Amino acid sequence: MAIAAETDFLIVGAGIAGLRAAIELADSGRVLVVTKEALGESNTNYAQGGIAVALGGGEDIALHLEDTVNAGDGLVDREAARVLVEEGPLRVDELLEWGTGFDREHGRLMLTREGAHSRNRILHANGDATGAEIGRSLLAHARGHRNITLLEWTTTADLTLEGDRVSGAWLLEREQYFQSVRARAVLLASGGAGQVYSDTTNPPVATGDGIAMAYRAGAEIADMEFYQFHPTALSVPGVSRFLLSEALRGEGAFLRNASGERFMERYHPLLELAPRDVVARAITREGIGPDGEQLPIYLDMRHVTGIDLYSRFPGISRFLRSHGLSLAADLIPVRPAAHYLMGGVKTDIDGRTSLQGLYAAGETACTGVHGANRLASNSLLEGLVFGARAGVAMREAPESSAPATTPPPLAPYPSRNIDTLHQALQRGMWENAGLLRDAQGLSIMKRFIEEVRAEIAPHRGSIELANLHTVAGLIVDSALAREESRGAHYRNDFPHRDDAHFAQHSIVRHGRITFEPMRESVLAR
Ligand code: SIN
Repeated sequence: MAIAAETDFLIVGAGIAGLRAAIELADSGRVLVVTKEALGESNTNYAQGGIAVALGGGEDIALHLEDTVNAGDGLVDREAARVLVEEGPLRVDELLEWGTGFDREHGRLMLTREGAHSRNRILHANGDATGAEIGRSLLAHARGHRNITLLEWTTTADLTLEGDRVSGAWLLEREQYFQSVRARAVLLASGGAGQVYSDTTNPPVATGDGIAMAYRAGAEIADMEFYQFHPTALSVPGVSRFLLSEALRGEGAFLRNASGERFMERYHPLLELAPRDVVARAITREGIGPDGEQLPIYLDMRHVTGIDLYSRFPGISRFLRSHGLSLAADLIPVRPAAHYLMGGVKTDIDGRTSLQGLYAAGETACTGVHGANRLASNSLLEGLVFGARAGVAMREAPESSAPATTPPPLAPYPSRNIDTLHQALQRGMWENAGLLRDAQGLSIMKRFIEEVRAEIAPHRGSIELANLHTVAGLIVDSALAREESRGAHYRNDFPHRDDAHFAQHSIVRHGRITFEPMRESVLAR
């Protein structure tokens, strides 16, 4: 399809946040949604466990707020969290109206529990394929609107600027043709950046594109040191780090170390349902033997009775079966893997970034709603609530008139093999900027990032690698600057939380890091 040179609203990414924003905008002008692969291929599509939502009214909502704040380890922006839990039920009701098939028992919505939730409030669909079902219904709804154009296989290469204002983007269609598109407002909803680590539950598309583009354009980026590692990704040599949903523990799974001990008793009163950062670190520690050797850790559901594990978790069961494992009969080897980025493009609670004309929502954005550690299953809700809010705010964006000043990113192909560089970056990040960090490892990684900078500048054939390189630099610099341990950020050399110095958000802009309260710096309109 030929790309129009102008639209009212440009949305980068077709996951839950991007589609929800598009639906909100559809009556206000032409909406162009671009995604770099086939429609449907996004982190949303792989979300298993569910969507957390307080459907029981006042007290239920207040408890959801407290759970979100507590999981975030002293850094949750309370206003953002309040918006999330209060508007969540309305947004989920819309999904039901639009045909999302959440699982039901005797006609009533089924609710499960995950880590650090004080009650059962996780809706799920098709057992363990919640994101795919929500994505399907949003896409069907968006397709029904004639103002929404959905464009797949189209990479957003960079944002265009008119002075300080974002005026659109350079799109690269099927890796061949550059086309600039002007828009009143651009929404970055391109998801996370799990591919910055060698071990991740994220699909290959999760390359931090929105964050890297926003940073290059001069936007403020917040809290990049807070990368969440999911405790239980499958750990079988030669097999992808397939996610084993927290809902398995919600339905009673135990964690056992190499001696068969249920070790979470030594780490947290909530045992296997402790906050995600606590469980991930406990698994990592239990998985290191006396001589530094790696020991196996297992998820154990063999004792669980009263539910048919195969029909409750069909996707997980099928994947395990293809590798000769069964939830009901086997110990399942697990280990943490990079899963979700709490940091991102700094926004207010309406998706506005520090640059005029630029908005962000979902995992690309950082509203501060998750603080230092996201509560399980709050991410789909975040995409819905803040995607819709960004759509409302974008309607108010003024027309722009001046021509764009940013040239197309047309550098030649890089000299070294892209795959080799990508793997070196991922491995280095996993080893030096992963679950347990210190100044020495982070400094090694910082040097590597500098050394390969010239080779990795955005090229036609390596836009994603350049974006990952930018994201890696932001994570490492922010992790070095935060000399404390909090939530998902654990420094071996600063093992304690230090509220006196670091009860603030890290903000990076143009290579400079500051620590600030979330809402103090001025967000441009
Ligand atoms: C899971 O199913 O464990 C993932 C849900 C989430 O990341 O919140």
